[in-house]
Amino acid sequence: MPAGGLNPAADGLLDRYGRRATDLRISLIDKCNLRCTYCMPEAGLPWLRREQLLSAEEIRRLVRIGVEVLGVRELRLTGGEPLVRKDLEEIIGGIRADHPELPIALTTNAIGLERRAEALVAAGLDRVNISLDTIHRESFAELTRRDSLDKVLRGVEGAAAAGLTPLKINAVLMRGLNDQGAADLLAWSLQHGYELRFIEQMPLDADQQWKREATVTAAEVRQLLSDHYELTPTDEDRGSAPAERFDVRRRGEQAVLGRVGIIASVTEPFCSACTRTRVTAEGRVMSCLFSTEETDLSALLRDESATDADIAHRWAEAMWVKPAAHGTDRPGFELPGFTRPQRSMSAIGG
Ligand code: GTP
Ligand code: 5AD
Ligand code: SF4
Repeated sequence: MPAGGLNPAADGLLDRYGRRATDLRISLIDKCNLRCTYCMPEAGLPWLRREQLLSAEEIRRLVRIGVEVLGVRELRLTGGEPLVRKDLEEIIGGIRADHPELPIALTTNAIGLERRAEALVAAGLDRVNISLDTIHRESFAELTRRDSLDKVLRGVEGAAAAGLTPLKINAVLMRGLNDQGAADLLAWSLQHGYELRFIEQMPLDADQQWKREATVTAAEVRQLLSDHYELTPTDEDRGSAPAERFDVRRRGEQAVLGRVGIIASVTEPFCSACTRTRVTAEGRVMSCLFSTEETDLSALLRDESATDADIAHRWAEAMWVKPAAHGTDRPGFELPGFTRPQRSMSAIGG
């Protein structure tokens, strides 16, 4: 800790390695209406009770403290599935009223989004990242354990029509399940002008089945696409973004059709540039996706004697001890020293 202790109002969410978290991700609910095998078990999980979830007002206050005291510059709302919350429009509207310029994004599976996209835009939502792993109905049903591809596609269209752009699609590939559909998913994304990102699977599945050898790596993704497409790294500065981006051309042709990203959390970790701070649906700070320690803010939020400065201080303390990488002192999910968090991605938020 710096001599004289932490000074959140001056230093924001600084950690021991000199990283400063400015990208706030709040999970709104742990429930989801899909059961993706790399995330949730078939039977679901023991859900949080309603009164355990942060309320719209508590979320609004946290964002206000984040932005006004701690230097947060962008917000992403996640789940579980955030659209499961009936008060999502109210949550976004409250935050937008306080922060007219704050970029607000949503990570969603898009089920039901076509019915709410316009209201979400009116409330102040800027853009969405939609999880969609394949455009083949059978592999979608197998991977998500729900036959809901049509609903998702309607949601994607509704989001684009409501102006939620740039619209990004997140896809996790599972060998033998949807990996052979990768080029079709890219063709579909390019055709509609969506930016597709392939994500290496991380050990955040509730079933705890993750194995390094089973991860479809960034190198394999490039190989899977190479029959049809040529990928050239873009020359932009990647900053703290998890995705490496490529220009896409059809093999042997000059015209750039669009872009694709690859998020190589397993084979090319990007922890040294991390700017993320996460709050779970029940109000606990996770300094890293792989934190095994969590810091509760909900008790302070519900304690009338606790001030914004108290909450900011607790939050800054939690971030100061953010691990160097992957929840430990160096990146590597297969190395000794790595311990997976008990939470699955659905209970953290992605
Ligand atoms: P934008 O590019 O701003 O749209 O945001 P993003 O790429 O951070 O968006 P998103 O939440 O869609 O993240 C995409 C995926 O990247 C997540 O689902 C995770 O799999 C992975 N990811 C995001 N943040 C982290 C992180 O802090 N650590 C690791 N290891 N992976 C992350
Ligand atoms: N590894 C990598 N990404 C994951 N997601 C869910 N589980 C995992 C995992 N085990 C991604 C989903 C979604 C986002 C919220 O997190 O694809 O886009
Ligand atoms: Fe940041 Fe942890 Fe993700 Fe690495 S694993 S990028 S440190 S949140």
